[in-house]
Amino acid sequence: MSKLRLGVNIDHVATVRNARGEGYPDPVRAAEMALAAGADGITAHLREDRRHISDADIDALAVICRRRGRPLNFEMAVTAEMETIALAHLPHAACLVPERREEVTTEGGLNVMGGHNIIAPVVGRLVAAGIRVSAFIDADLAQVAASKSAGVQVIELHTGAFCQAVRERSGEADRLLRNLKAATAEAHRLGLEVHAGHGIDYETVKPVAAIPELMELNIGHFLIGEAIFIGLGPAIQRMRALMDEARANSLPELAQVGQK
Ligand code: PXP
Repeated sequence: MSKLRLGVNIDHVATVRNARGEGYPDPVRAAEMALAAGADGITAHLREDRRHISDADIDALAVICRRRGRPLNFEMAVTAEMETIALAHLPHAACLVPERREEVTTEGGLNVMGGHNIIAPVVGRLVAAGIRVSAFIDADLAQVAASKSAGVQVIELHTGAFCQAVRERSGEADRLLRNLKAATAEAHRLGLEVHAGHGIDYETVKPVAAIPELMELNIGHFLIGEAIFIGLGPAIQRMRALMDEARANSLPELAQVGQK
């Protein structure tokens, strides 16, 4: 089983900076620290309303990721403006996300099935430019199939509903985890690389990281919050250790499957 990569989303360092209109804390410095602490890559979402990450942040993040040979995962709405920015920077990866101005965060996945005619041409142009494109979708088999036919190489499964159900101790958590596992297995069967993210904390990372076909988790808000108490580097190192532990513990289960 391959190692599960950790992409650290540094958007909310910019949220804190923008709350006072100052130049600090600097998300680019956070990205440098995250990479030094064991993050495999950096994720940043340039929202249409620029509420956290700015264009200048993306310029600087592209430079430091390239300099360090680490991937930048550019989260973007499917708009002409964002496509132009992605094509200008040529990040390692672009993750297509839905965006509604009034939402607090990305609430739910992209409707790739309903938006095929708009999404597929954008995917085609980004892929032709050498960018690895993912679609951020709910754990829904129809959206997995639609992502494949839209031409993305990767899907990122939205873990927000599952993580919230765990935090609220709701009876829905088991069903939502089963959906994540089924969507992961189906995407893997279709030849798509599978990532996951949104709302993950030290508790929810364990069942998610144990899904064997997953290749990458993208985690932000919880890590930036935890950094207030223990520092960004230690928070990332703890998350990394929990991911590795969950993977190691899922190995016997996999071996049993192989014996059947
Ligand atoms: N993956 C995607 C596609 C996202 O949009 C986000 C939030 O920006 C994340 C992962 C990270 O979510 P969180 O900040 O809740 O960890």
